[in-house]
Amino acid sequence: MKIITTIAEMQQQMLRLKSDGRTIGYVPTMGYLHEGHMSLMKKARPENDILVLSIFVNPLQFGPNEDLDAYPRDFERDHQVAEAEGVDIIFYPSAEEMYPSKASISISVVERTDVLCGKSRPGHFDGVGTVLMKLFNIVLPTRAYFGLKDAQQVAVVDGLIKDFNFPIELVPVDTVREEDGLAKSSRNVYLSEEERKQAPELNKSLQIAREAIESGERNPGQLIRLMAEHINDHTTGAVDYIEIYSYPDLKELETIKGKIIIALAVKFSKARLIDNIILEAE
Ligand code: PAF
Repeated sequence: MKIITTIAEMQQQMLRLKSDGRTIGYVPTMGYLHEGHMSLMKKARPENDILVLSIFVNPLQFGPNEDLDAYPRDFERDHQVAEAEGVDIIFYPSAEEMYPSKASISISVVERTDVLCGKSRPGHFDGVGTVLMKLFNIVLPTRAYFGLKDAQQVAVVDGLIKDFNFPIELVPVDTVREEDGLAKSSRNVYLSEEERKQAPELNKSLQIAREAIESGERNPGQLIRLMAEHINDHTTGAVDYIEIYSYPDLKELETIKGKIIIALAVKFSKARLIDNIILEAE
């Protein structure tokens, strides 16, 4: 496995591999790899000749109240995980390498951002869009893998790839779950014992909405009420949001139809958990 830290060397390598006809699978990350990242690598590995992982804590996507310096980092461990998952190249640039001077052009994501978690993180997706624009041009992937735990990010990346005509196949990968259905997250450790017992009810509420749709319910407001009732009755968490949109364009719906996302965020005493399902309604 190679570790490459400069853009020039990375681009050279990737151009050479592409001209040899190799397919490139790409998993972009900010490091501190967890099972979600591992599921992306596991999916990408057999589908591509070359597997590239990038590790870059992108300062542009942190808000003024989010502590960039406190973001966890452990390159040695990440290196071992990447090795075990069969990664061929880790791209590990510094912030100076990625942003050597003030940019003369900025990316502003104008759709799909003012809903779900994006509502409380203004500018976040501009930072994600900017870094991915650069990383896609450096890594030149055939396929790029993103986890559906952050389905809004997947929707924004879908827009970026389509709007700017990147010849890249976006591969959304299902959320990794515990046996009881709770979406895996590094935040789950902040749940108390009692809250951990309640937490699978979030996924349960999504399944209740799915079943109601399958039984013919088409009113988004009614589905949201059903879910909120379930969460309030079965957990001590406070609902931050429960929202339903078309997917991936994240537009409000008067009636449930086509591909949709049902997403929620619930605050427990020390952890805010998010989860979602995407489904196709007739
Ligand atoms: O999901 C992440 O870890 C980041 O938003 C990404 C896609 C690596 C861009 O910095």
